Amino acid sequence: MSPVAAPKQSAPDQPASGHQRVPASKHFVSHEGVLHADSVPLDEIAEHVGTPTYVYSAAAIDEAYRGIDAALSDVPHMVAYAVKANSNLAILSRLARAGAGADIVSGGELARALKAGFSPAKIVFSGVGKTDAEIRAALEANIRSLHVESAPEIDAIEAVAAELGVQAKIALRVNPNVDAATHPYIATGLHNSKFGLELDVARKLLPRIIASKHLHLEGVACHIGSMVLSPEPIGDAVAITAAFACECAAAGAKITTLDAGGGWPILYGNEERDAQSRAIFGRAIIDSMRRGGADKLGAQLIVEPGRSIVGDSGVLLTRVVYVKEQSKKRFVIVDAAMTELIRPALYRAYHAIVPVATKAGAPETPADVVGPVCESGDFFAHDRNLPEVARGDLLAIRGAGAYGAVMGSTYNSRPFAAEVLVDGAGFEVIRVRQTTEDLWRNERNGS
Ligand code: LLP
Repeated sequence: MSPVAAPKQSAPDQPASGHQRVPASKHFVSHEGVLHADSVPLDEIAEHVGTPTYVYSAAAIDEAYRGIDAALSDVPHMVAYAVKANSNLAILSRLARAGAGADIVSGGELARALKAGFSPAKIVFSGVGKTDAEIRAALEANIRSLHVESAPEIDAIEAVAAELGVQAKIALRVNPNVDAATHPYIATGLHNSKFGLELDVARKLLPRIIASKHLHLEGVACHIGSMVLSPEPIGDAVAITAAFACECAAAGAKITTLDAGGGWPILYGNEERDAQSRAIFGRAIIDSMRRGGADKLGAQLIVEPGRSIVGDSGVLLTRVVYVKEQSKKRFVIVDAAMTELIRPALYRAYHAIVPVATKAGAPETPADVVGPVCESGDFFAHDRNLPEVARGDLLAIRGAGAYGAVMGSTYNSRPFAAEVLVDGAGFEVIRVRQTTEDLWRNERNGS
């Protein structure tokens, strides 16, 4: 449970030599030589919608949500989907209908969550830099709770609540100083990170919060990072958070929530070890909540999974524009770029890349899969073993359902990609491809 040294780098961005490692999926399977999303052939989607296009499986999303919900069924709980992972309204409304809550991080996400039909009573709001306007919107909507991440934020929330004549429901997001052993850019649980309140600071704030007539401290929260492969660090963080929740209760707060954050992993294919199952993460969190004594408070457990609900559910469908043979390398140049999926450029993240037209046993040789953007960082894979592909072939970039479309940009004046949701044998465009006119819609043409 003690703090550990600086976070380690994540697993290598590419597998060792041999065949490319592709994670197993029930929803992206090849039938008669064509990769399908559930019952829909991906080449059919490309024909109708063009490329690059994000394709999500509704069944995969439903299944992941239900799996996490089931893993916590032993205790009163709520699965608050982390909207930032994929905030398409069609996906949000599907999860809202399934009974999920929402974890949001901005006024924009609040508006989306409300628009998609999440009950305000199921919305929690994290984030280190909430503005007065965002706090006001959250209080006016009467959301479940604002997760406070600093002392001045308490003053700001109290002032806005006083102005509105309401009592703000808040939870303290603590930083338990636990190493999530993930990529440093997505680790949030150590004291060198901007997130959460150090326990000593949170402790000192308690009397002032409890005495305030405009603040109602209803919970304690933590989130130590994303893509946390083993449940131990999350369990350690939850135990610390739970013990602090008991301190808050002893100091006079009526604690009704213990929020364990998100961070549950998926497998992209390059992990050095298997991620544990959802059931094991659920069990570890429940046990740690008990270890910290919070079960005696009768508090509801909240989790905030994002990646583990939508990550496996999506692929980025792209077409090969050229294959360029250089003396030392084969470049597969595709029509998707870092503008659609920035994770490889930003974190050297590994995404398996598979041809849509599959040939069993085809020999694989190394290639760099790159986009057309004018940046050397615009790549999806380096020296990846891939079968032979030709101009016009379709590729599916796997594990793209989380932190894909939402992190897109229009750099190089590239319109946002289309998004498609496959539901059984049918599919629906859930975001129309942006047009070039859309790109400059809000600009003033000086000429
Ligand atoms: N709760 C809070 C307070 C968070 O900050 C996050 C993610 C989550 C929940 C959801 O975490 P998840 O279950 O998805 O691991 N763009 C990065 C990931 C950034 C995660 C930010 N916070 C990536 O592409 O890997």
